Amino acid sequence: MCGIVGYVGNRDAVPLLIDGLKRLEYRGYDSAGIAVHSDAHLHTRKCVGRLRALEDNLATNALRGRPGIGHTRWATHGEPSEKNSHPHLDGSARIAAVHNGIIENYQELRDELQAAGHTFLSDTDTEVIPHLVEQELAAGAEHFEDALLRALRRTRGAYALGMLFQDEPDTIYAARLGSPLIVGLGDNEYFIASDVPAILNHIRQVIYLNDGEIAILKPDGVVVKNLEGETVQPALKTVDIAPEAAERAGFETFMLKEIHEQPRVLRTLLERHATKQNRVELPEAGVNGDYFKQLRRVMMVSCGTAYHAAMYGKFLLEHMTNLAVETDLGSEFRYRSPRLEQDTLFVAVSQSGETADTLASLRLAREKNCRVLSICNVPGSSMVRDSDAVLYTEAGPEIGVASTKAYTAQLMAFALLSLHIARVREEITEEQERERIASLAGIPDAIHYMLERADHIRAIADKHHDGPSALYLGRRFNYPTALEGALKNKEISYQHAEGYAAGEMKHGPIALINEYMPVVCICTKTDDEVYEKMISNMKEVEARHGRIIAIATDGDRHAASIAEDIIYVPETREEYSPLINVVALQLLAYYAAQARGTDIDKPRNLAKSVTVE
Ligand code: M6R
Repeated sequence: MCGIVGYVGNRDAVPLLIDGLKRLEYRGYDSAGIAVHSDAHLHTRKCVGRLRALEDNLATNALRGRPGIGHTRWATHGEPSEKNSHPHLDGSARIAAVHNGIIENYQELRDELQAAGHTFLSDTDTEVIPHLVEQELAAGAEHFEDALLRALRRTRGAYALGMLFQDEPDTIYAARLGSPLIVGLGDNEYFIASDVPAILNHIRQVIYLNDGEIAILKPDGVVVKNLEGETVQPALKTVDIAPEAAERAGFETFMLKEIHEQPRVLRTLLERHATKQNRVELPEAGVNGDYFKQLRRVMMVSCGTAYHAAMYGKFLLEHMTNLAVETDLGSEFRYRSPRLEQDTLFVAVSQSGETADTLASLRLAREKNCRVLSICNVPGSSMVRDSDAVLYTEAGPEIGVASTKAYTAQLMAFALLSLHIARVREEITEEQERERIASLAGIPDAIHYMLERADHIRAIADKHHDGPSALYLGRRFNYPTALEGALKNKEISYQHAEGYAAGEMKHGPIALINEYMPVVCICTKTDDEVYEKMISNMKEVEARHGRIIAIATDGDRHAASIAEDIIYVPETREEYSPLINVVALQLLAYYAAQARGTDIDKPRNLAKSVTVE
């Protein structure tokens, strides 16, 4: 989704804006632009495509100035083109705006402005904003701030905004409603950005703007106001992310770096919540034992990879407690008529904490007076702020668009949450809790082992990547793993892939199986009947000459005798095997994408943080 960065201070804004936009590239975009103050005028540069095009433009047509605003655009209203790229200007070219979000009543505002003589140069919803401000100034607003507030009160929809006004050459205006925007505080310089990693190298503290707030940034300070123009006291948060966390650290891509970070992330999460007494405590989550004791029903909502994590969470909670647990996709949940009662715990699962459909569902649950717990990776995000309780996944910034470490951290969070709830409700014994914690403690090393097998996985990916399609099969706890493996593959390699519950194969997808079809079968060994059933499903594939790639427990000769290729994983409890198995699938997708030559960190059409419906 669109990315915003802005700078006010004594340095030339242009390189800072370009650097910030590069760090926002992972959000997904199709064009980019900047505007800076220079020689008492506003100057803009825009380009379609990657930031390199904007840099080339600046190399041949130099620009210096301050303050400045910059934008990466992910097209919604109007195709990716120079005219639709931000910043957009008013009719007099004295007001520049960059915007993330959608102004829902833009057509009606545009009609009205056009009737009043305004000429529009783009197809975007954003362009109405500078024109509205221009109109309010002409209509007698006292000053720019007043005109901006009047204009914002007339819009419906969502915005994160950065604006420059030619007549105030030392100021950036920012505003937020429904789309993320932060203000960063450096040494006598201030930034706005869509997220912290974009400006991490320059700031020590951050203000997470609230919905309905504007910020006025000058080289000597920041003032925050509400839409009534009243000054509000913002909460300053210290930034505790190390700058290296947002760098590739020698890896060829962020995704590969993040895959390799998983052992450390999971170890940290486990150490934080499992006490020396081998007991899981979740003090930061903010929901206490008494609450879990009387709880009857849990509703989990999420999108994409986070939805697969929630499915795993449902299976695990149902396995360990007698809670009734339901999951849904954010985009579906908000448009059906869910039974939400006061005694339901609503769980939002999200890496970014900004996904529009999950956030809207969370707000729906709040309206119904449900208690809301977010399992989230980004402090200060909208979901975190709208929740009663938060369980942080603490994976650090995830820059690769395809989620990896955030996913396994979500699985670990569910493993910890389910242990905590089960013990509080006396549905497992202390001994059982101890055994499970010991099992979880072995996961980081098991993932290390998988990472050491990367060359073997690469060889398998090289062999199978060129087919048009692939099928991923799993059962029970590994059914979400199959879905996630298929999603990873299609996201980054663009090979069509379907994840399926293995038992469902015979109800349709079996028709696809022939001697060209790779079928990834997750058949890690367990004591129960799921393994045997999975083997039967593999035999069904074998009988139709499908090309089986098995994810199997170390030394499983039976699985090896059926599969064309086998990826061995270390043995663990069945319910925790998805944490290890998915790493094999991440690597499989990664090397398939590499063989197919795609842009792994920034796959086409995708956005990291999906802030529109
Ligand atoms: O930030 P969220 O976890 O709410 O994002 C949800 C999905 O957009 C996200 O998981 C998406 O599916 C990723 N590209 C998966 O790799």
